[in-house]
Amino acid sequence: MSFSQLSHLECGRCGAHHDSERPQNLCTTCGSPLLARYDLAAVRAAVDPGELAGRSPDLWRYHELLPVRNRRAVTTLGEGMTPLLPMSRYGERIGLPRLLMKDEGLIPTGSFKARGAAVGVSRAAELGIERLAMPTNGNAGAAWALYGARAGLATTIVMPVDAPEITRRECTASGADLHLVDGLISDAGRIVGELVAASDGRVFDSSTLKEPYRIEGKKTMGIEIVEQLGWRMPDVILYPTGGGVGLIGIHKALNELRELGWISGPPPRLVAVQAEGCAPIVRAFERGERESRYWDGAHTVAFGINVPKPLGDFLILEALEETSGTAVTVTDGELLAELRQVAALEGAFVCPEGAAAFAAARKLRASGWIEADEQVVVLNTGAGLKYPGTVQVEAPVLPVDGHLI
Ligand SMILES: Cc1ncc(COP(=O)(O)O)c(C=O)c1O
Ligand SMILES: [Zn+2]
Repeated sequence: MSFSQLSHLECGRCGAHHDSERPQNLCTTCGSPLLARYDLAAVRAAVDPGELAGRSPDLWRYHELLPVRNRRAVTTLGEGMTPLLPMSRYGERIGLPRLLMKDEGLIPTGSFKARGAAVGVSRAAELGIERLAMPTNGNAGAAWALYGARAGLATTIVMPVDAPEITRRECTASGADLHLVDGLISDAGRIVGELVAASDGRVFDSSTLKEPYRIEGKKTMGIEIVEQLGWRMPDVILYPTGGGVGLIGIHKALNELRELGWISGPPPRLVAVQAEGCAPIVRAFERGERESRYWDGAHTVAFGINVPKPLGDFLILEALEETSGTAVTVTDGELLAELRQVAALEGAFVCPEGAAAFAAARKLRASGWIEADEQVVVLNTGAGLKYPGTVQVEAPVLPVDGHLI
């Protein structure tokens, strides 16, 4: 049995097939993202899901459904198998006693971007790529820079000047070639695109969905959730959506597991959560459109979801439609208040993007879109520790001989 059962790449829009054994970016026919396809019949014949329990507690336990061909090409820092925690007290407060949090704060580099980086970097190195370049809102750049360092790959990272400061330090520590732009991730994307075009094939473009393997790492969140629930699906999954790769990835994973016969029944309703200051997916969803439009003046404290025009917008909207899901916005004020509530009631210091998803769960319960007895999973996509500015400290300073009584 091969380590990976990757068979080919398929365009997510026009369906054209592409060779998976050489570096690929977008579909050469229509310019859309490519998706990895596997020989699922071979996986079904060789693997029983129950056997997975005995494998390593990281995302590589799903190696047949990942694109890395050779076990020796795996670059890992131990990513995956994050906790799926009951949030009973907070859940009771918002009317969802069966609420769960998939906590991606407990993963190398402190955000779920480690999953995409582990798989994307491993596959890039396996295909002989030596230098990667990517635009980022911070966390992905930090993860790719650090995993790149471990794999011996050079990285060029371009991020907005106001991206979380720690991500900049992570890049610098890793020895990455880091650049800051006084603009948005879309401006960083243009700069990377120019560099790649002028590089004569020496720099590979690893932008979100412009390479096909980051999504494969992120889809493992979906596989883990159902494995942790005993190969059952929850009723609803809420995901803070920027580029939307995690949401598209979870949807893809659940389709693969269904085709394998490892799960059955209706899929979880997927919810794309965005900030009121940057909500291209919500606007497109509400208007019944198949693609989003560039969101002018994008701004939110939940920096990872500040993406004015996601490349995979049509795939996000398809995933929402196929799962009877929805798309909602929350304000920065709402998500910052929720962050405090979650920490105070559950002891979990979540990132602002995760807090946005909690705020959305509260809203959707209040509107009746989620029912009280439903099992709901909120993805906390990163550690609150990476964003120290979300909470202002108001603590009196005592003199050295001070007392509290
Ligand atoms: C913490 C965090 N949450 C969510 C997102 C959004 O992820 P995606 O681009 O997959 O929608 C990001 C992206 O930077 C992030 O850093
Ligand atoms: Zn195509």
